[in-house]
Amino acid sequence: MMTNPTTDAGARSTPDASPQRFLTGITTTGTPHLGNFVGSIRPSVAASRLPHVQSFYFLADYHALIKCDEPARIQRSTLEIAASWLAAGLDPERVTFYRQSDIPEIPELTWLLTCVTGKGVLNRAHAYKASVDKNTAAGIDPDADVTAGLFMYPVLMGADILMFKTHKVPVGRDQIQHIEMARDMAQRFNHLYGEHLVLPEAVIEESVALLPGLDGRKMSKSYDNTIPLFTPREQLRKAISGIVTDSRAPGEPKDVEGSALFQIHQAFASADETTALRQAYADGIAWGDAKQLLFERIDREVAPMREQYQALINDPGRLEAVLLAGAEKARAVAKPFMAELRQAVGLRSLGSGAVAAPKHKAAKTAAPAFKQYREKDGRFYFKLLDADARLLLQSQGFDSPRDAAQAIAALQKEGPAALPALQDKVAVAPEISASDVAAALHFFAANAH
Ligand code: TRP
Repeated sequence: MMTNPTTDAGARSTPDASPQRFLTGITTTGTPHLGNFVGSIRPSVAASRLPHVQSFYFLADYHALIKCDEPARIQRSTLEIAASWLAAGLDPERVTFYRQSDIPEIPELTWLLTCVTGKGVLNRAHAYKASVDKNTAAGIDPDADVTAGLFMYPVLMGADILMFKTHKVPVGRDQIQHIEMARDMAQRFNHLYGEHLVLPEAVIEESVALLPGLDGRKMSKSYDNTIPLFTPREQLRKAISGIVTDSRAPGEPKDVEGSALFQIHQAFASADETTALRQAYADGIAWGDAKQLLFERIDREVAPMREQYQALINDPGRLEAVLLAGAEKARAVAKPFMAELRQAVGLRSLGSGAVAAPKHKAAKTAAPAFKQYREKDGRFYFKLLDADARLLLQSQGFDSPRDAAQAIAALQKEGPAALPALQDKVAVAPEISASDVAAALHFFAANAH
């Protein structure tokens, strides 16, 4: 069974501490294909078996509504994805496996996070921005056909992650920004209401190869080049016969470089089997024979799971029971945590004793601010104060006011990420934590236009 070195390392870094929590969401809009299996299902199932990890896997069906308005497709996809993960060996006793829409605390947390997330931050989310850029390029209204659901996507995802005090989120590169946003939301919330939320980290799965599809491009539903994971045996054979090859005749040596067939084979084969196919390519194996070999290799791995899959698909009631049991486990965490968060923000019962008077906190309405000034040495300085006028950052002297302003602009735009480049010029004040600085800088990014 393959293991995932990144998640492995994550688990090892805290050998004795409480387990590391991993969380993965799968949007329920499609039928799992071989690319999903190699890139996500197989490594996740392997990672869920490691010691010292606690895994949460869920069907992101609220997210599915953002991209799909076909009810039957969402239901069918939920069935197929749940059956695929279980057939691939996910053990619902060992992990928490649930359906997002069975957890009402998730939309509830989404609202609390919505109220601490800058609109400007969401304006910069890649998926939303791509839609806006496309519309702008087409000369139509920037928000044409953009739902508020798409705009809010990162907040719902933040709630998924923060609800379970997730440490690590294994994701593809395209999702890193979402994890960073979830971190920012947690930081902002904690700054306002106390340390309740755990700051999550993305785990990038470098080791997992992208599987090419039938046409050699990345296997993806959007390219219509996928091979379904649990298609019947004969259909699998047919799909594999459609993989593009070059026109070299039997007996002519073939290139493994750039061969989709070879790469797909490699994702399923042992090192020895890969060496053998490499040799067969050099010896001029006929494409028809290579395809037959690939078919047999994949079918060998998939056939036992396919049987399981069919049994599950034919028994939706059993799947439903598994998901409801998972939801119960998830809610055993989510419900008390949501009660804690409601208390933290002031959604409190009036009946249970003291109702505190609001603290007089004039500074609360004030905001963090950069102050620029000139010293007697003739140089230009700035400092960053928080809403309580506490010193957070102090600059060295700049030659011109423009240089100082540029440094401020970088800090306002990039947040703490701008600090390393300014390390000779800007210092964090004594007794000030990185998260205080981050929270203050976040204010500017969130209020940018
Ligand atoms: N956005 C993820 C994707 O498209 C799916 C997802 C929803 C998710 N919520 C999540 C992934 C929380 C990880 C954690 O792949």
